Amino acid sequence: MFKKLAIGGILALSLGGFAAQAAETGGHIEDIAFSFEGPFGTYDRNQLQRGLQIYTEVCSACHGLKFVPIRSLADESGLGIPEDQVRAYAANFSIDDPETGESRPGKPTDHFPANTGAGAPDLSLMAKARAGFHGPYGTGINQLVKGIGGPEYITALLSGYTGEEKVEAGVTLYQNTAFPGGWIGMSPPLSDGQVEFADGHPNDVRHMAEDVAAFLMWTAEPKMMERKQAGLVGALFLAIFTVLLYLTNKRIWAPHKGKKHA
Ligand code: HEC
Repeated sequence: MFKKLAIGGILALSLGGFAAQAAETGGHIEDIAFSFEGPFGTYDRNQLQRGLQIYTEVCSACHGLKFVPIRSLADESGLGIPEDQVRAYAANFSIDDPETGESRPGKPTDHFPANTGAGAPDLSLMAKARAGFHGPYGTGINQLVKGIGGPEYITALLSGYTGEEKVEAGVTLYQNTAFPGGWIGMSPPLSDGQVEFADGHPNDVRHMAEDVAAFLMWTAEPKMMERKQAGLVGALFLAIFTVLLYLTNKRIWAPHKGKKHA
């Protein structure tokens, strides 16, 4: 009985896997050891700040971050930007006030503006919406080990342009090794040396791609550090609780064990 069940299970898994693989046309995504991965990983504050700068100077021309409150830039577990600088940053945006109907400078309590002009998707949750790793036959086994690979996918996308272009139905498409289907409507947004960092950090396409991908992981999951901490406390509690229950169980049954029954 068990054998039959097991064989059925393995068969179902592998058949499902083949179907998933057939549907999957994305390119190969390399794993990157981001600082926030693993049970003890934390965001690299400097990297997130560089990512914000890249987003602001480059990506925000086409992409919005409408789910991200500007005030969260001050969060200690994230970018940790001082309150007065967050206020100054917010004031750069022009917000259409829904109450007065007029536009005014942004405040920390506003969200980053949406941006739909260029037909570009909102990036707030993109790092969680796109999986870079699918695992052998689409089983998702890689995802258990390396995470879903969203930031890796974004890094690969931004540094995956081959330089080839084609025009299809009046739309220019750019060849990209990471984008499913191989041709994307976004022109290569980054070029070497495009953004200057105050700390002189390397600013070639590859480094900038990683930095902005890390920033987009933060926008998609700003409370990751808190969540991991709560998880660790929970696991520790369960471990201690297990030992206590084991000892209690032994104690309760001790009088009945080892007795000879007639
Ligand atoms: C000139 C406008 C423009 C700029 C600047 C731009 N993008 Fe895009 N982006 C687009 C458009 C248009 C699409 C949709 C392309 C498509 O679906 O073919 C897109 C799509 C994307 C996607 C989604 C790809 C997918 O899997 O669907 C990501 C991620 C992305 N951009 C990230 C970025 C980042 C990060 C930057 C800044 C470094 C940036 N973009 C700058 C126009 C832009």
